[in-house]
Amino acid sequence: MTACAEKQVNYPHSDISMLLSDIELRLDELLPVDGERDCVGAAMREGTLAPGKRIRPMLLLLTARDLGCDLSHRGLLDLACAIEMVHAASLILDDMPCMDNAQMRRGQPTIHCQFGEHVAILAAVALLSKAFGVIACAEGLPANAKNQAVTELSHAVGLQGLVQGQFKDLSEGDKPRNADAILMTNQFKTSTLFCASMQMASIVANASSEAREKLHRFSLDLGQAFQLLDDLADGMTNTGKDCNKDAGKSTLVNMLGAKAVENRLRDHLHRANQHLEAACQNGYATQHFIQSWFEKKLAAVS
Ligand code: IPE
Ligand code: IPE
Ligand code: MG
Ligand code: MG
Ligand code: MG
Repeated sequence: MTACAEKQVNYPHSDISMLLSDIELRLDELLPVDGERDCVGAAMREGTLAPGKRIRPMLLLLTARDLGCDLSHRGLLDLACAIEMVHAASLILDDMPCMDNAQMRRGQPTIHCQFGEHVAILAAVALLSKAFGVIACAEGLPANAKNQAVTELSHAVGLQGLVQGQFKDLSEGDKPRNADAILMTNQFKTSTLFCASMQMASIVANASSEAREKLHRFSLDLGQAFQLLDDLADGMTNTGKDCNKDAGKSTLVNMLGAKAVENRLRDHLHRANQHLEAACQNGYATQHFIQSWFEKKLAAVS
């Protein structure tokens, strides 16, 4: 039995759906209104509101609650939306012809396929800028908390985060690499945004430095597990994305095979859970969410 089940914490499905719909509604409010002639605004909306899993903002909200925050705090929802905007921008850029050259994302043609490359680049830049603006204007957050949140997010986007990860992935992915190099790239390209989500939850909750450190470790392992799951699902036809995009790429799946990667993924998940449990002693919503989410996805890829 898992630690989470032992504590008999089970958040009803309706609770998760409500948080999801709060995130989507707020994103809708924050994004530019639909203007017939504003293609960049339309591309920002499409790139963000197209049906994504919203895992990063969900984790931010659930962890904040586990750390003792009241989820009716409006500023918290805005920070969650800022994270999702950065993520949406990273996907728009990742799909471009000069990067992964993808045609489909979230079940729809990629943003550059719909709107053209120039609009896709501008929409991504505008989304990144909007994300920082959303934090600056977030309701009910003291200036010091906003400063910390901006610092975390700018770190996650920049040269020690998504940018570095994407650069490494593009420049090294077509050559042989060892497992450590792959893990390092995955840490930059995927874990850092999870780290920012966790740190933002900690900032709003005013969590102790011990809890923050444990949540940081949680995010590192979670990001690795998440990227391995994405790599395992690359050959599936029902992800809403191009199939077999990683053919010929030096991923752990291509190097070690699916079974070995699933084992590694479960190790990361196990460690992630241990860190999470140590960090959040007021509730176990995040742990429950993560466990059931990964079990469902792993059942689908195996
Ligand atoms: C895709 O992220 C990019 C990776 C880090 C693997 P998601 O799998 O969270 O994509 P959406 O938001 O659900 O579309
Ligand atoms: C994640 O890696 C890239 C980002 C963090 C944007 P992938 O390139 O594998 O993501 P997908 O498979 O296109 O979603
Ligand atoms: Mg990529
Ligand atoms: Mg890609
Ligand atoms: Mg992928």
